[in-house]
Amino acid sequence: MYKASSRTRIIGNHLVYLKAVGSTNSWATELSKKAEIKDGTVFITDHQTAGRGQMGNRWNAEPHENLTFSVVLNEPVPLQEQFYLTVFVTLALYDFLATKVHHINIKWPNDILINQKKVAGILIENQVSGSRINVAVVGIGLNMNQLQFDLNTATSVRRETGIFQDLSAALDDLLNCLDERYLQLKSGKRDFLLNDWYTRLYLKDLPHQFSSGGQSFNGVITGVDMLGRLVVETAEGQRIFGFKEISY
Ligand code: BTN
Repeated sequence: MYKASSRTRIIGNHLVYLKAVGSTNSWATELSKKAEIKDGTVFITDHQTAGRGQMGNRWNAEPHENLTFSVVLNEPVPLQEQFYLTVFVTLALYDFLATKVHHINIKWPNDILINQKKVAGILIENQVSGSRINVAVVGIGLNMNQLQFDLNTATSVRRETGIFQDLSAALDDLLNCLDERYLQLKSGKRDFLLNDWYTRLYLKDLPHQFSSGGQSFNGVITGVDMLGRLVVETAEGQRIFGFKEISY
């Protein structure tokens, strides 16, 4: 059974377990609009029946085999720094996975890969007023013990290691990783975080074929801009891509 963390400062100090729910992100969002939720509260379920992914996609996870949860953060960063939420969460997932496997990468903007297959995705939904993020709901789907996937681009920790994963212990460790990276962000270590993120970024500084707007082109990822858009150096010069504007 999952329990609140006794090790962390903010993330996971409070935990709500839902036996089954449509989407932990939707649940946490609805609740946060009705009542104040303590900073760092985790909403976790063993059975997400209508999990949501990026770009309106579904997030399907076999019940009782994976980690599907959302963390509520109150006023995490100013709106113009929202990309750092993605940075700290993806780094924390990397830190956690690095204790178990090799060949992990962060794929811009939101995916975590093991051996070039997706093991985790994140969906961050902000409630904004003016230039403030009042509440960020950070949704994490991490494939842990599932062995069969519809997509051959997906994997799990168990598939990569051959080892059954205890979900409660894994959650406790992951919350600790999230808390550490979040505290780095809250203490202003943005450059440090971005630097760490770059060293783990999939295809950074490597020539690769990309596609955008139905056209293929060769280029090299050199980084992200202030808004977290992907910067690709091509023969025609630098090109900058927002979310959904490039695939690779
Ligand atoms: C993606 O890669 O498309 C993002 C997937 C995010 C899935 C998680 S699972 C917990 C939380 N609740 C949701 O409905 N989605 C996120």
